[in-house]
Amino acid sequence: KQRVLTGITTTGTPHLGNYVGAIRPAIEASRSSEFESFFFLADYHALIKCHDPAQVHQSTKEIAATWLALGLDTDITTFYRQSDIREIPELMWMLNCVCSKGLMNRAHAYKAAVDANLEEGEDADKAVTMGLFNYPVLMAADILMFGAHKVPVGKDQIQHIEMARDMGQRFNHIFCSKKNPLMTLPEHVVGDNVAVLQGLDGRKMSKSYGNTIPLFLSEKQLQKHINKIKTNLLEPGEAKDPDTSTVFQIWQAFASEAQTAEMRQQFADGIGWGDAKKQLFALINEEIGEAREKYNDLMSRPQDIEEELQKGAEKARQLSVPMMEKVREAVGIAGLK
Ligand code: TYM
Repeated sequence: KQRVLTGITTTGTPHLGNYVGAIRPAIEASRSSEFESFFFLADYHALIKCHDPAQVHQSTKEIAATWLALGLDTDITTFYRQSDIREIPELMWMLNCVCSKGLMNRAHAYKAAVDANLEEGEDADKAVTMGLFNYPVLMAADILMFGAHKVPVGKDQIQHIEMARDMGQRFNHIFCSKKNPLMTLPEHVVGDNVAVLQGLDGRKMSKSYGNTIPLFLSEKQLQKHINKIKTNLLEPGEAKDPDTSTVFQIWQAFASEAQTAEMRQQFADGIGWGDAKKQLFALINEEIGEAREKYNDLMSRPQDIEEELQKGAEKARQLSVPMMEKVREAVGIAGLK
């Protein structure tokens, strides 16, 4: 069976971008008998950008409750918390030792931090932690540990999957025979109509831009947030361009093809922004309304969430422990014989 794996960093409240770009396609894929799926809460990754323990804790709870509320079946998938798998940081070390620094210099997240520093006339590496620099190596360990074939992610993560491939390849080349490679080389999977969902201000929806629409807001708050989506000044009756509109882009991510065609026509006919936003609210609310109730219920029972995570960790470690034994042996640090 093909293995599918993906993770979400536990620093914020899940938003429509995470849902459309990662959670929804992952849960859909998990229902197919073609795949064996692994979904996890990337809480070690959270520590790279968040040093507020209460926030990491709360976010872990919210993200776990989100996946469960959306109908993730933990009997057929492996759903776990990254930090419960003690073998992951160990594998990360092995990969650190085969990964060239030059490759990491090219990572987008690191380069963005350096560019921002230089622009402000600061030292290039100011406030860059080893955590940020090593981010793609930790991610490679997540992926290679479980032999993932496919990694569904948003566009922003493609580079990291390629880097994981690179590190896996290098490990195989150095430590394994051609016939028996230990590392499975992963491929990224990006849904094409939803690759990067836009946020309130038209930029990519992202925790770091503060422009998100959280997934499980109350109905009232959801409508309020949708009303804040930036639009141009065209009045009702004036034709609007769907292809530059965030309202339309989000519509497309939730609508059927027929509904999208219909909205396109309404834009051409000069639908008013208020009306379009009301329709968008109804569309989203219909898709997530039921899950919202389950989510609120789960959030009041954290011990039940924890139980699910423990079950997942046990399943995951049935694979990670033997995998790590093989890796230790391959590099020459297993017990003496
Ligand atoms: P993170 O937590 O930033 O985002 C989780 C997933 O959501 C996708 N995403 C989006 N997709 C579409 N539109 C958006 N506006 C949007 N915002 C976020 C992201 O592409 C991602 O797929 N490093 C990863 C987490 C991670 C991981 C892994 C993923 C750690 N280890 C191993 C896959 C495999 C991250 O920070 O994602």
